[in-house]
Amino acid sequence: MKIIRTTRSMTAWSEGLRGEGVTIGFVPTMGALHDGHRSLIRAARLRCDALVVSIFINPTQFSPTEDLSRYPRPIAHDRALCREEGADVCFEPTAAAMYPEGFQTTLAVPLLARRWEGAARPHHFAGVATVVTKLFGMVRPHLALFGQKDYQQASLIRRLVSDLNLGVAILVRPTVREKDGLAMSSRNVFLSPDERRIAPLLSAALRAGEQMIRSGTDDVAAIERTMRQTVEQAPAIQIEYLAVCDPDSLEPLSVVAARAVLLGAIRIGPIRLIDNLLVKMPGRKVLNQGFRLKAEGGFDDLGFKQK
Ligand code: PAF
Repeated sequence: MKIIRTTRSMTAWSEGLRGEGVTIGFVPTMGALHDGHRSLIRAARLRCDALVVSIFINPTQFSPTEDLSRYPRPIAHDRALCREEGADVCFEPTAAAMYPEGFQTTLAVPLLARRWEGAARPHHFAGVATVVTKLFGMVRPHLALFGQKDYQQASLIRRLVSDLNLGVAILVRPTVREKDGLAMSSRNVFLSPDERRIAPLLSAALRAGEQMIRSGTDDVAAIERTMRQTVEQAPAIQIEYLAVCDPDSLEPLSVVAARAVLLGAIRIGPIRLIDNLLVKMPGRKVLNQGFRLKAEGGFDDLGFKQK
C-alpha cells in the first residue's frame, strides 16, 4: 500500500490509472477507523479495481467549541486496517496542503443542512461539502462510499454531487453496530463504562419508533413520544432531537406514509451521539418523493459497474 501525502502525487496516480480504464473506489475518512469504515473499504474493494482511503481530520467541519485536538489519531492502527483490507493508497494530505494561505471557497447545501446536525453545528456541513469536493478533485474516484450512520451527511453529498455534476457515483452502506445496537463511531471510545452502558438507548428508541410504524401507527407525535420515553429511561442522557422525517428532504413529517427516516441525536456528558433508521413500508402510498436521486455514473443501485 502506498502512502501519498501530496495532492499532486495523488491526482497523478489517479489520472494514470483512469487513463488505463481502471475503476477507482474511494472511502474518505477522518481516521480512527473502526468496523464501520472496514465495511465501507471492503465494499469498495469488491466493486473497484483500485482503492483509495483518505485520512484527513478536517478542521473546517469542527466548531470552535468542539475539541479538534482531542480527536483520536491512531495512525499506525488506521494504516494497518487499510492495508489488511487491500487499499492501494492511503491518502494523508496535510492541513496546509488542503487549505493553503488564501484559501476562501466554501460550498453550501442550505436546505439539507439547515436542520438536525446543521442546526446544532452551524458550520459543519459547509466544511464537509467543501472538503469532500476537494478530495474528489484530488482523488478523481469513479465511486465513493459513505456510511448511513451519518445520514444527513450522505444525503447532502448525494445532492452536491448531482447539483455540481461531479461525476462520482455515491454508494451509502448500512450502519455497522455493536452487539447491543450502538452504532459504531470514532467517538464511542470517549464513553465511560457507565455512559457506554446507556448509549444503546438511542438505537433502542429508533427501533421502538420503527416498530410502531411497522405495526400501523402513522401518528408522528406518538412515535416521537415513544422514542423520547425510551431514551428518558436514563436521566443522564440529554435528547437533542428524535424526529420522523422525509428520507429525501429531511423535513419533519406530520404523517408517516411509505418511507420515513428516524433521526436521533443525544448527549451523554460531553459526548454527542447520532443515529438513524430508514423505514420503508411496501404497499403504503408514497406522499412525497422529494428529490430522491438515482444511481449515476455507470454504477447500479448497489454500486456495481454496469456492463
Ligand atoms: O464522515 C467523515 O468521516 C467526514 O465527515 C468526511 C466525509 C471524511 C469528511 O471529512
